[in-house]
Order: sequence, then structure tokens, then C-alpha cells
Amino acid sequence: MKKGNLGLAVTTEAREFEESTVCGIFGCILKSGEAAPIVHVALKRLEYRGYDSVGTATLHENKLFIKKDSGKIDEVHALHNLDDLPGRIGIGHTRWATHGAPYQVNAHPHTDCDEQIAVVHNGIIENFAELKMELEERGHTFRSKTDTEVISHLIEEKLREGLTLVEAVRETVKRLDGSYAIAVVSVKEPDKIVCARKESPLVVGIAENAVYCASDIPAFLPMTNRSVIVQDGEIVVLSDERYEIRKILDWTQVTREPEHIDWSPELAEKQGYPHFMLKEIHEQPLCLRNTLRLQDQFLELMTTFLDRAGEVFLVACGTSYHACLAASYMFSKLALLATHPVIASEFVEQHGKSVNIDSTLLVVSQSGETADTLAAVECARLRAATVLGLTNVVGSTLTRVARVYVCQQSGPEIGVAATKTFTSQLSVLSQLALRLAKKRGKISHVEIENLEEKLEQIPDIVERIIQTQEEKVKQLAKKYRDKQCFFFLGRGISSAVALEDRLKLMEIAYVPSIAYPAGESKHGPISLIEPGFPVIFICPKDDTHKTIVGNIMEMKARGASIIVVVEKGDEEIKSLADDYIEIETGLPEVLSPIPYVIPLQLFAYYMAIERKCDPDMPRNLAKSVTVK
Ligand code: AGP
Repeated sequence: MKKGNLGLAVTTEAREFEESTVCGIFGCILKSGEAAPIVHVALKRLEYRGYDSVGTATLHENKLFIKKDSGKIDEVHALHNLDDLPGRIGIGHTRWATHGAPYQVNAHPHTDCDEQIAVVHNGIIENFAELKMELEERGHTFRSKTDTEVISHLIEEKLREGLTLVEAVRETVKRLDGSYAIAVVSVKEPDKIVCARKESPLVVGIAENAVYCASDIPAFLPMTNRSVIVQDGEIVVLSDERYEIRKILDWTQVTREPEHIDWSPELAEKQGYPHFMLKEIHEQPLCLRNTLRLQDQFLELMTTFLDRAGEVFLVACGTSYHACLAASYMFSKLALLATHPVIASEFVEQHGKSVNIDSTLLVVSQSGETADTLAAVECARLRAATVLGLTNVVGSTLTRVARVYVCQQSGPEIGVAATKTFTSQLSVLSQLALRLAKKRGKISHVEIENLEEKLEQIPDIVERIIQTQEEKVKQLAKKYRDKQCFFFLGRGISSAVALEDRLKLMEIAYVPSIAYPAGESKHGPISLIEPGFPVIFICPKDDTHKTIVGNIMEMKARGASIIVVVEKGDEEIKSLADDYIEIETGLPEVLSPIPYVIPLQLFAYYMAIERKCDPDMPRNLAKSVTVK
């Protein structure tokens, strides 16, 4: 499995590993006027990429001017006036810390020892720890705990050797493992910005009186709609009204004319998707790849806590609770560890008196701020239980109160409905279960290798599901849009998927729906069934296959319309269904929730569209529920 430097932190010990991955960068060279206010408004337009810290650097009369701090852009601006920096050349950054607290010192831009070079970066430098050690041995002084700072010090060394700025950037990026989109300025060559890209987005904007670089087109769209997409492995030098692109590898020059962008600024922010929810569903392959870069040593530490626990509670609300429910099957099947998934708002009543020093809570919360979840944490801490956290927001309350926390690396989720953060949680939880299984010797080498291999393939599998099934799901939404109620059924780990799919459909398309473990449906809920009642079954080909066939027959016999999510080639189930969505074969049961939930996230989205509901802002809901 590929290992990187992403993701985990121990609240006290892990400060060495702070870094940011999902951020926005921007740069501009104006013919005349001040760059800082332009950088400021551009960063505001990139704020959807991250908003826990912000910073700007400008060049003026061979001097570098920098303002940066933690906090939202408006807060930092109110405090420091981000418009008040001299010079017509500037770079800026809006940060989403994925590891380590968002402190001023970790905000970008990052500089070299003499503060002659400033760098903004979006991505992950996987080998930063080695590079940092090497640079420190050669006398460099580091101010931050970020991965990014190695870039400014490496450039500093190359400039000292007499290279030009672009040569220095080229030699520097050759040493970096991981992903990056960077913009660099130096007082030594105060007329240019040098950018480079590998695996993180970078675009250039060309206007009459200015050139821009940015993580994304919306940053400069109000100023120009002429844009050049920078490709992986390319360096770009921006100078007065000019851009020059070269291949990092062989230094050949690339000729690429600007394209005309006809998106509205609003559409551009969503990268052409009509809603954030759809954008975030499509981002899942990328987010899942990020979850495979979590850092070994911290995953291991969390596993040790789980191994030593007398009892383990998996505590969360809403979608995060469904991830916990799925995780309870993972821990049980892989590590033979019985865990108790608990809805956080019930924790105090249900376990508040019995939780104790031998208890461990693995608390899952995208926001890290959900009041019910934090109340459970508080109760457990007062009784000396160990609290472990899995969250998407570094700096959130959960990261502060947990003994160890893991950052799931999904980037900001704007849509109120959790989608990409759910599958990322599942990926991290499955990795923890797998590690625990290894540690306890509960699983064979062959099984471990197979699972690790499949985990690596999950992002591509998810990508293919979206590509091949989206159109079909759209048609299903058209067919079923007027139905008044849906049933979602699954057995085993798929019962968690059924609950999550039900929640998605209810919360954004306002269709009252019911979800049960399929076996339970005949103990009452089946009385609702009458001809045409839509029942959605989640049926991967696992140990529950035979019994779920029986459950489908029960519903079919009563006239239900059967919609199934099945493995490709599962003719037995397909022959019983009115409609089916196919998932590719060969997925281990414990990983199946990740791909199987995707089509029904899309179903909920397209049902919302068909029913004229706004999927990004469902009524009565908030992204983060901070009241009990
Ligand atoms: C899911 O789509 C919801 N928006 C909601 O159920 C959410 O998962 C829940 O409020 C928990 O939030 P958290 O993960 O931030 O704690």
C-alpha cells in the first residue's frame, strides 16, 4: 500500500506532521496597480477549497511583504488588512489544514531562511520529513511544521548555487515526491512568478493588463475568461503579460493557446457542476486516494489503543453513525473485535453510567463539532475513558479533546448532505480494522494482501461506477420521481448502506423512506407493501446473498417494484428485479459499502433534481449541528 505523510495526528506528539492538502493558491502580475487587493478577492473566490488560514506575499522595490494568519479570510482581513501590501506582483493562499492545528506560523506563504523567497503550495510533499532533516543538517532554520516549507529552502540553496529562479524551481521539484501546485516569487528576480504542477490543479489566466495563476478558474474569472490549463510535469513562468510553459523533464517548450471559458463565476466555483453535492460525489475517487496516504505510524498508534481497549464504542450522528455501523462489521469480521456502534445523542443515557477507564470511544464526526457527539465525548472523558477521533476538520473541538485523532483528508464538503466524507470515513475505518486484524493475528497473509490490493483499487472502481452508472441512475430517478415512499433493505454490512441511502433520499429529496436490515422487514414493516411500492435492495455477492434472495421474493410476491444494486452478472437477482444497477465483481464484503453507496447517492441527487429540491441546501438542516 502506498504510504505518505497525510492524515493522522496525536494531539500532543504529532506536531511534526502538520501539512495541508486541499487549499487554494493564486498569483498575479499586473501591468499597473496594486496586487494585494486582487489577491484578496481571488482568495475569497477560492475559499470553498479551504478557509482556516490565509496569506499574501507581494514584491515591491526588491522587497518581500507578507501578511498571513489563521482564521477565515474576512477575519484575517479585519485584523491585518490584506489589501495593504505594496507592489504589482503577488501570490496568496487559502488553507484547509488536513493535519495539525491551523496556526499563523503554518499559514502560507512560506519563506526561506533570509525571507527572500515566498512559496504557496497546494498538495502533499510525501518525502518532506527526509528533506527537512537534510536541510536542517545543512543549517536551514524552519519556522513552520508544514511540508511546504522544504520547497522554499530547497529553492534558496539552488539560488545560492547561482541558478536562475526558474532553474532553481525545476531542480527543487525534481526532488519532491507527492503532489503540488506551487507559485514562487523571489526578490532576486522580482518581475516574475514561477509555477509548477504535479497532481494538483493549476490554471493560468491571460488578460489585457495582467497574468494570473490559480488552483481554479473562478479565482480570475471576473477579470478574464481566457485560460490555459497547466498539465502535470510542467513549469510556467509568468512575467509582464506573458506566460512560458516548459516540461520539467526535458525542458522542451510547450505551446498552448488560451481557451475561452464560458462558465458563469457561480458555475465555475462548482467546476462546472450544477451543485456542490454532485461535484462532491464526483470527487470521491480523489478523496479515497488521499485516504490511502495516511501516515503509518499514527494509524498504528490508533490501532494499539483499540487493541488495548476493554470495550470499544463507535460513536457518531447521522451519516457518520452509518460509517460506524459499517465499521462494527469490519472490526468483527476482520479483527474479531466486538464493538458497540452508538448514536451519539443516546450515548449518555445508554452508557453514561457504565463507561469507564477501560472503555475506548472511537468518535466519528466530519465536522468535529456536532453537539451530540461532543456531549458523548465529554461524558466519556469525565469517566476516564479513552477518546479517539476521526474527523475531516483539523482544529475542530474533536481534534482538541481526542487522545489521538485521524484526519480523513476529504477537503471541505459544502453540500449539506455528506457524500465524499462518508466514503472516506469508510476507507479509514476499514484500514484500522485491517491493521487491528494484522496486529491480533486474526487474518491470513493472503487475505491481508488481497484486502490491501482491493483497497488500492477502490478509487478506480468508484470512478468507473460513476462513469458507467450515472446515466442509468438519472433515468431511474425520472421513472420513480413521483413515488411517495421507498424501502431500503440490505443484510449484514449492507444494512448500513441501506440506512445511509435512505437518509440521503429523505434529507435532500424529501421522500419519506424506511430502511431496515432486510431480515427485520418481515417483522412488521412489510405490511406497508402494496403493488408498485418501490423497494431498493443492496445486494453484493457476500454470505448474505442467499437469504436476501428470499427477502426479495417476499417483497415481490406482494407486488413491490424491486430495484437492486447487484454485482455484475448476478443473473439470479437481476431476474427478480424491475430495475438494477450493476457494480463490478470481486469486491471483499468489508469494502463493499464504499462502491455500493455511490449509485444511491446519485439516485438521491437526481431525485432531488426531478422533484425541484435544492440538494445543496435542504430545508431545516445545517451542515454542522451544534445544538443538542
Ligand atoms: C448527512 O448527510 C447529514 N448532513 C448529517 O446526518 C451528518 O452526517 C450529521 O449531522 C453528523 O455530522 P458530523 O459528521 O459532522 O458529526
